[in-house]
Amino acid sequence: MTTQAPVARFTRLRHATFRSPDSERLLDYYRGVIGLGVIGRDGDRIFLACDSEQLSLVIEPGEAALTSIAFEISSNVEMEALAAALKRADLRTELRSDPLPGISRLLSFIDPEGTRFELIQGWTPTPAQERIGALAVTKLGHVALRTPDPLAASEFYANVMGLRVSDWVEDRFVFMRSGYEHHTLNFALAPERSLHHLAFELRGASHMQQACDHLARHKLNILWGPVRHGPGHNTAIYHRNPDGHLIELFFDLDRMIDEELGYFDPRPWHRDRPQRPKVWVGLPRDVWGLPPSPECVEFAR
Ligand SMILES: [Fe+2]
Repeated sequence: MTTQAPVARFTRLRHATFRSPDSERLLDYYRGVIGLGVIGRDGDRIFLACDSEQLSLVIEPGEAALTSIAFEISSNVEMEALAAALKRADLRTELRSDPLPGISRLLSFIDPEGTRFELIQGWTPTPAQERIGALAVTKLGHVALRTPDPLAASEFYANVMGLRVSDWVEDRFVFMRSGYEHHTLNFALAPERSLHHLAFELRGASHMQQACDHLARHKLNILWGPVRHGPGHNTAIYHRNPDGHLIELFFDLDRMIDEELGYFDPRPWHRDRPQRPKVWVGLPRDVWGLPPSPECVEFAR
């Protein structure tokens, strides 16, 4: 596929939708550990908001899997024109009105590897109908997908959706940014498309410490971290949720405050000055912290 300019420009990661074989168990986890709150339900679907009163997660019944990822696109894009452009790019699209809490219109498309993306414009606050407790994460920060061809995936999302490449780990893991944050969508080499991990943002170091204690109280093993990564330089911990999905909690992600600068805002822990997008080769990539446990072996190569 050849495209002159991006068809749309992803600006901000908004929410993710998951199927779960035990929606109530997964709901308990997101309420009691991550700190999201229920906005409402629509039949079997459960809508969850983060503390900033924005839809962050949708749970549907079914076999455990990621169903879709939603990004906001700029408000000056005409949805009908965008739908037509996506169709011309041989993508299956669907335009819906009033589909989700706080979202009036939604255009979905299926990407070349079968993952559904939802494109949305604007939002109205949709507070949880309950007090949010637990970790009360600030937001859904990024989604990492497996793919048999990270280069093709990165080219599709750069050319069609306007994402920018922030870093590569050799030729098998690409970090892409939609706004000023180092990554919101990643692709990792694997035999087939599926979720690699999902990440929620914490407020800082004391929140991270609280998160470690909170995971221990809930008997959720920390499989990797705390660690300060090389690519993105975020401090992160990883565990698995009840559906087996790898969940990252992080803070302090690199930021490119202006695309014209072409480098990430200087931070004391950078080894490169300036820290520009690059290909990371060899170990150790992390600034500090131990290597991942065998259960996170996909990260260790
Ligand atoms: Fe991550």
